[in-house]
Amino acid sequence: MTGGKFITFEGGEGAGKSTQVRRLATAMAAAGQPVLTTREPGGAAGAEQIRSLLVSGAIDRWQPMSEALLNYAARAEHVAQTIEPALRRGDWVVSDRFADSTLAYQGYGHGLDPEKLKSLHHITLGDFQPDLTYVLDLPVEEGLRRAMARGDGEDRYERMGIDFHNRLRDGFLEIAGADPERCVVIDGTADMDTIQQSIWAALQHKFPGRFQ
Ligand SMILES: Nc1ncnc2c1ncn2[C@@H]1O[C@H](COP(=O)(O)OP(=O)(O)O)[C@@H](O)[C@H]1O
Ligand SMILES: [Mg+2]
Repeated sequence: MTGGKFITFEGGEGAGKSTQVRRLATAMAAAGQPVLTTREPGGAAGAEQIRSLLVSGAIDRWQPMSEALLNYAARAEHVAQTIEPALRRGDWVVSDRFADSTLAYQGYGHGLDPEKLKSLHHITLGDFQPDLTYVLDLPVEEGLRRAMARGDGEDRYERMGIDFHNRLRDGFLEIAGADPERCVVIDGTADMDTIQQSIWAALQHKFPGRFQ
């Protein structure tokens, strides 16, 4: 399908994903690579409407499976309307979260069977996966402290308990460990410039000769 490559950032609340998405895209553009940044849930008109159903309101407003289905409804729109057209044009796409977040939040976090989520992925998107995924890893307390200081009102997940967030963190590390070809774990406790350099080095390693 593609000329471009698809890169995702994953990790818990406040891990530094949005910060590093911006920095990576700026650096790629400066290196002459057309790049589209996007986010989940969201990244297409209907998907952004679904986002508002997920990121605000009562913690228990959804059954875990309903939440997974909403995420995949949004993701189907995002892939069809935004990601695939960009990749076909030859642009690279950098997304702030993607399918690993559903596996981490609804699977590891809320106890849905990971195999059901993998089936849902397959039903919705076949074998479509990122070419490269960065997992930003950070102690939960530090991430929540950073995220709450942001105060943007999209705090439904931030309000879930510390145990939930620790299951997420473990889940992301397990996902990365199971797919080392695709996933790179980055130490989110480092300063922003150091993290950016690690991310760039991993990009060069993954796509040799492309960003020298
Ligand atoms: N490496 C870092 N060290 C300290 N603070 C950071 C770092 N990266 C991001 N931040 C700050 O922490 C907050 C959350 O970062 P953000 O990129 O929004 O995280 P996420 O998108 O993963 O939730 C922001 O205020 C950001 O400026
Ligand atoms: Mg963010």
